[in-house]
Amino acid sequence: MIMYDVYKLRQEFPMFTNKIKMQGHPLVFLDNASTTFKPQCVIDKMNEYYLYKTSNSHRGDYDLCYGMDQEVSKARRLVAKFINAEENEIVFTSGASMSINLIAYGYGLKFLTKNDEILITEAEHASNVLPWYRISELTGCKINFIPLDEQGHLTCENLRKVISIKTKIVAVAHVGNVLGYVAPIKELAKIAHEYGAIIAVDGAQSVPHIKTDVKDLDIDFLSFSGHKMCGPTGIGVLYGKYHTLDIMDPFLTGGGMNSKFDMCGNIKYLNPPSKFEAGTENLSGIMGLGKACEFLMSIGMENIQKHEESLRKYFLDKISDLDNIIVYNKDASTGIITFNIKGVFAQDEATYLNSKGIAMRSGQHCAKILIDFLHEVATVRMSTYLYTTKEEIDYVVKILKNGGDILDAYFN
Ligand code: ALA
Repeated sequence: MIMYDVYKLRQEFPMFTNKIKMQGHPLVFLDNASTTFKPQCVIDKMNEYYLYKTSNSHRGDYDLCYGMDQEVSKARRLVAKFINAEENEIVFTSGASMSINLIAYGYGLKFLTKNDEILITEAEHASNVLPWYRISELTGCKINFIPLDEQGHLTCENLRKVISIKTKIVAVAHVGNVLGYVAPIKELAKIAHEYGAIIAVDGAQSVPHIKTDVKDLDIDFLSFSGHKMCGPTGIGVLYGKYHTLDIMDPFLTGGGMNSKFDMCGNIKYLNPPSKFEAGTENLSGIMGLGKACEFLMSIGMENIQKHEESLRKYFLDKISDLDNIIVYNKDASTGIITFNIKGVFAQDEATYLNSKGIAMRSGQHCAKILIDFLHEVATVRMSTYLYTTKEEIDYVVKILKNGGDILDAYFN
């Protein structure tokens, strides 16, 4: 496998070439599970819309507008290729949260009753918990939890313990946003289907980092965001199997998603994906997202995954002799490493890291149930991406060595 040159790659990101500093130090950005930097090609593609191509799509008979239709189709094709889906199975949304809400309201609200059940886990992000709670309130269906194993993994064995014919939706993350474990989605999907349930996968933390093939995984839905994969904010994707998209209801209604309506309230919707894309879409965002997919494919998702794995190993080796660091997900394989410094509150640690130019997220990371599982009030989360370097890890380790004595450390 040919790995890429990370130093050369960084030259494509203005956030590196502009030499951004934080607290007087060169910025070391390790909050990539939260959002990611954008390469110049994505920024240029977005600007292309504003500088040369501004018009609406699917709403005009002039060349400029037709050109936008082509751009939207091209981006949809690129996203479909990126996850091995069909073009008409890609719905543009504002991000993973909206995608999951669309499944909840469009599918859950339509098909679930008080006798049904949705299975989730304690490790889910708020975006993969709260929409289901709302559907439970509205339909009376139950929400149950697939127990995690001792380290916090989601296993097939534990899904089998709780799934039944009452289960209609299994809604789980492919990669958890705190522990970073990769769930065995293909096998979980098989089990869900045995029971006649669908599986809705939160891909916010997986699609940007590991090769995703929706056909091979045989999943019913996949939600992800553009901004976590070198793309723009405010744009995301809901992938759904075409038949499933076809039978579900739209969540938003308006222009661009209907073919006809009359004074009696009769409406005829367009076919998916248009049925779910009411109103003027985020056109520059769509163009930027298509470019981000092209960019990541040109590097190779396997290479990105390998890079993150090697940085993870490098970091864990380097801190193996430091007994002041508690790592909660040592056996994960992705770029997320969640830890605490003994005796230091996570947010204090993150503030200290900030003072040294290091950006990491601290707190509960929107996964507010998992915190009880970890028996911690808060944790610090480091998350790498394709452009993170070993030198940045070296610097972090050097700073973490002092992290146990915050006040002294400030003055060192
Ligand atoms: N979902 C993002 C995170 O986990 C914001 O940080």
